[in-house]
Amino acid sequence: MLWKDKYELGVPLIDRQHKELFKRVEEFIVTLRSSASWEDKLQRVDETLEFMKGYVVEHFHDEEEYQKKIGYPGYNEHRKIHADMVKYVVNASKEYEQGNHSEVYMQQLAGKLLSWLINHVAAEDQRIAKYAIEKGVANDEQ
Ligand SMILES: [Fe+2]
Ligand SMILES: [Fe+2]
Repeated sequence: MLWKDKYELGVPLIDRQHKELFKRVEEFIVTLRSSASWEDKLQRVDETLEFMKGYVVEHFHDEEEYQKKIGYPGYNEHRKIHADMVKYVVNASKEYEQGNHSEVYMQQLAGKLLSWLINHVAAEDQRIAKYAIEKGVANDEQ
């Protein structure tokens, strides 16, 4: 399991979404590495991209709402990072739809999703939790 409890923000909705994102990306990577058929792998790329396009947007929205609610000072910067990731997912999806089904492309996609998720959740998102604790609003969501 790639998820670690230390990634928790202490905000139940956000933590649930992060766990789901980790789960999906992990399943994607496991399928790519497995002996599954090429069709199954393509199917999984398709599913993962479709899922990410919807769920990432929803998660970013909820997380941004939470930042606004607690008056997080890094809100604008964080929003921009989210927007860039949405762009990446949308572009990756377009590329896939236009016929880039290569193994190299799939590996790149998996690597990017995983490294982005870990780096973002473990670093950027943790700053939100740290701020909530400092401000004394960390337990308001429990
Ligand atoms: Fe997040
Ligand atoms: Fe975030």
